[in-house]
Amino acid sequence: MQPIRMFDSLRVQSPHLASMRDAIDAVLSSGRLVLGPAVADFEQAFADYIGVAHCVGVANGSDALELALRALEIGPGSSVLTVANAGGYTTTAIRACGAQARYVDIDEQTLLIDAEALERALGERPQALVLTHLYGQMADAENIAARCRHHGVAMIEDCAQAHGAARNGRRAGSHGTLACFSFYPTKNLGAVGDGGAVLTADEHLAKRVRQLRQYGWSDKYRVDLAGGRNSRLDELQAAVLGVKLLHLEAENERRRAVARRYQAQVRNPLIRLPTRAAGADDVVHLAVLRCSRRDGLRAHLAGCGIDSDVHYPIPDHWQPAWRDASPPSLPVTEAAAAEVLSLPCHPALDEEEIQRVIEAVNAFR
Ligand SMILES: Cc1ncc(COP(=O)(O)O)c(C=O)c1O
Repeated sequence: MQPIRMFDSLRVQSPHLASMRDAIDAVLSSGRLVLGPAVADFEQAFADYIGVAHCVGVANGSDALELALRALEIGPGSSVLTVANAGGYTTTAIRACGAQARYVDIDEQTLLIDAEALERALGERPQALVLTHLYGQMADAENIAARCRHHGVAMIEDCAQAHGAARNGRRAGSHGTLACFSFYPTKNLGAVGDGGAVLTADEHLAKRVRQLRQYGWSDKYRVDLAGGRNSRLDELQAAVLGVKLLHLEAENERRRAVARRYQAQVRNPLIRLPTRAAGADDVVHLAVLRCSRRDGLRAHLAGCGIDSDVHYPIPDHWQPAWRDASPPSLPVTEAAAAEVLSLPCHPALDEEEIQRVIEAVNAFR
């Protein structure tokens, strides 16, 4: 029996291998390996795709978050709202800036930020909100952006799990003051190594991020902006991303088809599938279910040769390195962390594998 993997890099890449190799060859023959035409072309193509004027390629999604915060001058004394169920990347970035993360609880159904709790937190005058489009689901970015504007709070969208998600004709990444993407290989738009990007409609902020990704330089060897580093997207990754962007829509549709099958056919009283429309507002980065006996279910699936994973087991406010003397109470976040389990969901899963996953989940007692 073949194991079913959470993500199968070789199979997901295989339809694009020939064009990826051509793109890589073109970079190698150009002799330009850093911040050359491949990065510039990809930045333009991705900005056009998301529908935002500026895209700045950076080294990874975590740097994208940190540099976006730094571009907004978030630092010691600032507080930034976010959720505690999104893997800790945003908290890492906030803490790296010397600012304080303030957590907002999540909605029981979607596991995205809770609108009422957010409204209360916005009233406490934070400097920024990082809005995470988790598991591929697009949060209500349009209304939340309006609430942020009302309160004078900057909004950064974390789109690391939502490449291509759209609502009312606008994509995730086009509502925030800035938006951050990761191109880690397992992402819906994945490189063959690390990569990331910051998008913004604001020319001044785009310029700041461009400076911050390259030591804070305004010109070669002249540091005009503090807080910079080396965080460049490289030419090879950009060339590969340019090829893969052409297939993103089709691959997102494949992911939605997998989620619809799970939605329609997983029938087990021990398991709850969060309601997902799996329409345009959802690019199904992860297929997440809830089960109070999550670890037993995971072991059962492993026994059937099916990988699964937990996104994420420890909420940020409980991470040992960050836990303070009086962590906030986030009941919905905490309950979800004990129950969520992600099933295999990627564009190369075939019918037989999907069926095997459904049957194994339904057979769990
Ligand atoms: C929601 C979210 N934000 C940020 C990141 C960080 O991206 P990277 O791994 O490229 O640093 C990730 C991915 O790993 C993520 O899933």
